[in-house]
Amino acid sequence: MQQTFGLFPIPLTRVQGAINASLIQRLKDAALASNKSTNVATHLLSHTRMLDPGQDALFAELAGRIQPELVQFGRLLFGETLNWRIKEMWMHVLERGGSQFMHTHANSFISAILYLTRPDPSARTIFHKSLGSAEFVFKNDGPGVEIGEFNGDKWFLPNAEPGDLILYPSHLLHGVPPNQGGRRISIALNAIPDRLNSQGYRIAFSCNKH
Ligand SMILES: [Fe+2]
Repeated sequence: MQQTFGLFPIPLTRVQGAINASLIQRLKDAALASNKSTNVATHLLSHTRMLDPGQDALFAELAGRIQPELVQFGRLLFGETLNWRIKEMWMHVLERGGSQFMHTHANSFISAILYLTRPDPSARTIFHKSLGSAEFVFKNDGPGVEIGEFNGDKWFLPNAEPGDLILYPSHLLHGVPPNQGGRRISIALNAIPDRLNSQGYRIAFSCNKH
């Protein structure tokens, strides 16, 4: 008998229908109505200002809905129910032709994407293994090679729907390929626990925007 184990896998969670149609619509309206700044790399991607759930009932409602999902995902990362806090939250509006370079989110443990529109298949979020190293790389790919979870280095999120929430560890590289469809609207956020504890050696985290 042969048994295979996936060692030390990286969790990525999809919560389907994390928010209802009414909240999706109100958030979309807010995204389109708000002042936005364009991305440094492309004018086809714009971001809203940082959204503060403490200052806005709409984003407070959203944060309340997401909170239990953060706690549950945090248990996968750290094995314990911790006090999670959304550190920052912002909206993305990606027009046709726009894309987002591969990036990670610094100073954060859980990051999330909430889709407010159905992304065109061309603009599915792509997740990637770490790029580069100080060692030579050997690969076996091309026609006839089957790519699976052990030899692949990238993964496309399949068909996200409006209201779907994706949770992933903040160190995971991700981006959006050029959007060949219509306007794509999503919300991104970062979250941290208030503390971690390793055998009594504690470290505390807090967010202070000033
Ligand atoms: Fe991101």
